[in-house]
Amino acid sequence: MIKVLFVCLGNICRSPMAEYIFKDMIKKEKLENMIEVSSRGTSNEEAGNDMHFSAKLKLKEEGIYYKKHTAQKLKSYEYNEYDYIICMDDSNLKNIIRIVGKDDKNKIYKLLDFTDEKRDILDPWYTGNFNETYRDITKGCKAFINYLKMKGI
Ligand code: 4NP
Repeated sequence: MIKVLFVCLGNICRSPMAEYIFKDMIKKEKLENMIEVSSRGTSNEEAGNDMHFSAKLKLKEEGIYYKKHTAQKLKSYEYNEYDYIICMDDSNLKNIIRIVGKDDKNKIYKLLDFTDEKRDILDPWYTGNFNETYRDITKGCKAFINYLKMKGI
């Protein structure tokens, strides 16, 4: 079983969107028995809260199943429990290292690292552009699945 953890700042917009978009993709690829997926935030700010309304609206619009979400902050021991810890931007990356310590097993990536443009996925909490967030996350998740397949899962 490969364990994948998506991480953003609040765990109410980008990382839960990535969790459900990726779950939808692996289901369609019949890989759901091989990959386990969850998400976390690096801040406690939104802990306990559901996904952002506009994130849910966008997933619904795209026909992506999601269930009731409860935002959680990343715990340091979770570094050992996951194989891939995939965040959205450079600031997440710094915050993850602050929580877990060193990335000595090279598990931490930014989602768009798997694509040809290794940039940040902007925070829709600030941009308000959930369509752009959806496009970027979908692109990153597709590239990540291809990467896993290339590695022979
Ligand atoms: P996310 O967006 O990191 O994509 O979940 C944010 C949600 C909440 C906050 C920041 C970013 N906040 O400061 O509460």
